[in-house]
Amino acid sequence: MSTIVTTFRLPPAAISLLEGLGELYGPDDWKAHLADAEGLIALLTVRVDEDLLARAPRLRVVANAVVGFDNVDLAACRTRGVQVTNTPDVLTDATADIAMGLLLAAVRRMTQAEASLRAGEFKGWDFWDYLGGDVSGARLGIFGMGRIGRAVARRAAAFGMRIQYNSRTRLPSEEERALGVEWVDWDTLLTTSDVLSLHAPASPETRHVLNRESLRRMKPGSYLINTARGTLIDEEALVEVLRDGPLAGAGLDVYEREPTVHPGLLTLPNVTLLPHIGSATPATREAMAMLAARNVYAVLTGGSPLTPIPG
Ligand code: NAP
Ligand code: GLV
Repeated sequence: MSTIVTTFRLPPAAISLLEGLGELYGPDDWKAHLADAEGLIALLTVRVDEDLLARAPRLRVVANAVVGFDNVDLAACRTRGVQVTNTPDVLTDATADIAMGLLLAAVRRMTQAEASLRAGEFKGWDFWDYLGGDVSGARLGIFGMGRIGRAVARRAAAFGMRIQYNSRTRLPSEEERALGVEWVDWDTLLTTSDVLSLHAPASPETRHVLNRESLRRMKPGSYLINTARGTLIDEEALVEVLRDGPLAGAGLDVYEREPTVHPGLLTLPNVTLLPHIGSATPATREAMAMLAARNVYAVLTGGSPLTPIPG
């Protein structure tokens, strides 16, 4: 019999699967049962570090029920022989939809227009009011051409955007052709994209890739979209470039110090702010929870995890 702890409420199907293995403890008492836990289902809000691992000496698997794993100390898990898994693919479309939604909201100034209407300023259709940018024909830059980056490229192509990207690994040329995307170096991506959308993971390498210096070199009048991780952007500097240029606007789903949002962002009209809802649809969340549960089940029954994090 195994003890499994989960830091959030699981859907019934995941509970049934795991209860067959032993005791399952939920969000109210998972910490109290860490000492016995062989499986942990965690979210990005839980730091799986040395401290937590030391309190869970029997742990065999950490199933992160999100795709990003910057909340997990992989080296510490490896040292202790703890398998780590995540939930790739099942949230790709939902997150790409939110990136596209933020892109449209930013370029067409939807948040500003809506705020104006709610403030009672809509006095009837006016030829020269509420003008935004053109999406069709604009140049989209994608940083991090992985699962979500590619799903955004497919959506953007349908909107008539021209697409360039930068990733550490270049896609095979057949895939570039099929997606209609062109690889460019970071500098070109930064300085020539009308919209720059971030899809690389949080890492020491990507931390503040958009800092004061790089933000200031972005194309005048361009937009920045971030559905990846807040740490990719220096938020203090972002406030400055949204206020003074060169950025025309931004759309953010993630923040440097969640759940805190930089107070400067909250006062700016030209930024759309979402509360980290990239994967927030019932079907997607159910699929994420089920995949996490199946990973725990596989490891604790002696099988191979479905979606291990390599390393
Ligand atoms: P993925 O398939 O692993 O894609 C990430 C891409 O970034 C890969 O192509 C990777 O390629 C590239 N990359 C990594 N380091 C890079 C660097 N230093 N410079 C340039 N490119 C780099 O992951 P995904 O499933 O698309 O998810 C991407 C990220 O989105 C996740 O890590 C997570 O943080 C975030 N996310 C957010 C939400 C939300 O709710 N807002 C939902 C899901 C995911 P190479 O390693 O070959 O360079
Ligand atoms: C959400 O942010 C995820 O990484 O899945």
